[in-house]
Amino acid sequence: MIAPSVLAADFANLQRDVEMLNSSDADWIHVDIMDGVFVPNISFGIPVCQAINKHAQKPLDVHLMIEQPDRYLEAFRDAGAAVLTVHYEACNHLHRTLQFIKSLGCKAGVALNPHTNVQLLKDTIADIDLVCLMSVNPGFGGQSFIEHTYSKVKELKRLISESNAETLIEIDGGVNAQNAPELMEAGADVLVAGSFVFKSADPATTISNLKAI
Ligand code: DX5
Ligand code: ZN
Repeated sequence: MIAPSVLAADFANLQRDVEMLNSSDADWIHVDIMDGVFVPNISFGIPVCQAINKHAQKPLDVHLMIEQPDRYLEAFRDAGAAVLTVHYEACNHLHRTLQFIKSLGCKAGVALNPHTNVQLLKDTIADIDLVCLMSVNPGFGGQSFIEHTYSKVKELKRLISESNAETLIEIDGGVNAQNAPELMEAGADVLVAGSFVFKSADPATTISNLKAI
């Protein structure tokens, strides 16, 4: 699956860019929320997520790069989130947070920073619908892909199958047509792509090309 990130869209033309995604081969729309505390950047918040949702015809995959995400889960569900992903590093009671996300009727995702070992999810993997492996340090679009991600995907894939879980593996950061084939071969299910899609001459064709890999 392909989940283009609107972080790289033209914020002054969000409706236009969301409509482009509606008519493209994109599966989900990835929405990056940054609080300026968990990550050194601020993106946008709940009203903008609502505005995206007003025009989106595809599920919103909301990636919360925020401290104490529990405080805002319900608000983002109301703003249209189908998938709610919190950071492992931002949760003191991850199991409780996952149950809460599910009680809101959303798919529960957990994102891991590049330095966070996938084995830390061993005791919760059966409760996680999606693991988002960060292939850059979160906070900015347009960064270079960290090559170590390939081995993390393989290790996570093993952990999921050993646990008989059905967790999806998502890769976020620096994804492009060069690294997508190896990521998929390693076991990735969902590829997030921001700059590679929106900075290309023809974003809809770029999405189709990624989808066809
Ligand atoms: C990074 C965000 C990503 C970002 C990806 O902190 O979580 O979703 O939008 O952008 P690219 O594809 O440009 O690395
Ligand atoms: Zn993201």
